Amino acid sequence: MNAASSTLSIAAQPEPSPTVAQFLRRAPRLLIGGEWVESRSPRTLPAIDPATGRTVATLADAGQADVDRAVAAAREAFEKGPWPDMLPAQREALLWRLSDLIEKHADELAEIESIDNGKTKFMASIVDVPGARNYFRYMAGWATKIEGSTLQTSFGGIPGAKFHTYVSREPVGVVAQIVPWNFPLAMAAWKIGPALAAGCTCVLKPAEQTSLSALRLGELIIEAGFPPGVVNILTGLGESAGAALVAHPGVDKIAFTGSTEVGKIINKAATDTLKRVSLELGGKSPVIVLPDADPAAVIGGAANAIFFNSGQVCCAGSRLFVHRKLYDRVLEGISAAAESLQLGPGLHPKTQLGPLVSRDQQERVLAYIDSGRTQGASVVTGGESVGHEGYYVKPTVLANVNPDMRVVREEIFGPVLVAQRFDDLDDIAAFANDTPYGLAASIWSNDLKAVHRLAPKIKAGTVWVNCHNVLDPNLPFGGYKQSGIGREHGRAAIDLYTEMKSVCIAV
Ligand code: NAI
Ligand code: MG
Repeated sequence: MNAASSTLSIAAQPEPSPTVAQFLRRAPRLLIGGEWVESRSPRTLPAIDPATGRTVATLADAGQADVDRAVAAAREAFEKGPWPDMLPAQREALLWRLSDLIEKHADELAEIESIDNGKTKFMASIVDVPGARNYFRYMAGWATKIEGSTLQTSFGGIPGAKFHTYVSREPVGVVAQIVPWNFPLAMAAWKIGPALAAGCTCVLKPAEQTSLSALRLGELIIEAGFPPGVVNILTGLGESAGAALVAHPGVDKIAFTGSTEVGKIINKAATDTLKRVSLELGGKSPVIVLPDADPAAVIGGAANAIFFNSGQVCCAGSRLFVHRKLYDRVLEGISAAAESLQLGPGLHPKTQLGPLVSRDQQERVLAYIDSGRTQGASVVTGGESVGHEGYYVKPTVLANVNPDMRVVREEIFGPVLVAQRFDDLDDIAAFANDTPYGLAASIWSNDLKAVHRLAPKIKAGTVWVNCHNVLDPNLPFGGYKQSGIGREHGRAAIDLYTEMKSVCIAV
């Protein structure tokens, strides 16, 4: 590693609970057609605890034959069996049952998520696990509320004929869902929830770095009583299992969350079969602080916008723009907040910020910090790794940056903030929009006029005002520009998983 490493000591990771220890010993298996089966491929993958770098479990690494089996099982479940005939209210009840099981096993799921991803168990238990539970509950409600419309037509080609026309929404079919490692359980819920509400069947591929909570979710899906094949779960690598799913002719739709780089590969690969594709990709979201903002609220809010989940958040507020009137004060406050965060392993009760997800990610983030230094940025705080075992990076603030630096242009996906000062309100929209991304932004101000003038100028799928990272199952979420295609949550998510059918009846 190039970047400096601090010798600051990191607490030891406590042992897992007996329940989780037993779960971690489970044999590598895939969920196909309602059963846990062995992979046809002999390869396995390690599940690694980022706090220690140690392997805690072994995963199957699905190959083409497994992908074929899983897609066939999903197809069978979509076309035959109980799923297509199930009443919407029955799908609703199953989704509720699943959410109740998540609630029942919340503590265990939070522990699994912490060990697998590095985030604190506390965070997982107040964000990820209730987020997943609530998501399934919200989507359960949609199962009974999918609707079409009746329309009037003006077709005059057949004299005297009248038409009764309506538009209905039907499930799109078999969907492959590929998710990343930053919020593994919640991302699985965002994908599976609306697909099942709409009546689709799924093949889910969790990220190779964090597959454990998806496997536990698979057990709960069986326990909830979903018919076989409705949800299939394949652990495996992106370039093999993921790519095979994307190319598979038996898949009707791909839903992907992850890097813009892979999103582009998927979009191209899906062209051959013209699969439906929805993509939720990277970001470089601006946090814009206007001169009238309350500095205390800004400092807490902006620190949380970038350091929450160690900055491994697609909509993290990673570019800070502060009006010169408040710049010094806000920068000082955020840096102090960064320094006060207690780094440590996720299961330790005193930890406030865990390690990054993997050695790769730690090295990527440190390399970005180095590139910032080389290109002339100054490190206000942080800028180094900590400890020897785990994948820790200190929360970092970079100043004296310019819009051409890699740290300003590219998604770092770590606890690294780049801070810039601005003088003129007329310039700020152009600064904020000077990025290939457009996932989210936040504006900090109580000046109603200024906020309402600025919000429409920001090219982003979400604009928060005096808050950041507020996500709700009912609020559409997704990106402008290279941050993606389509919107998840709410009615928009149901639209992603349904096809429109126009029915025209001569009467
Ligand atoms: P990635 O985009 O490669 O991984 C996300 C998912 O895509 C994983 O399940 C992976 O197995 C799968 N995948 C990878 N290559 C694939 C392919 N060719 N076909 C089908 N599926 C494939 O992200 P990675 O490499 O883990 O992280 C690299 C960078 O991506 C991060 O530093 C971050 O900047 C960005 N990223 C952004 C995320 C977001 O939510 N916006 C989430 C994860 C990563
Ligand atoms: Mg990758």
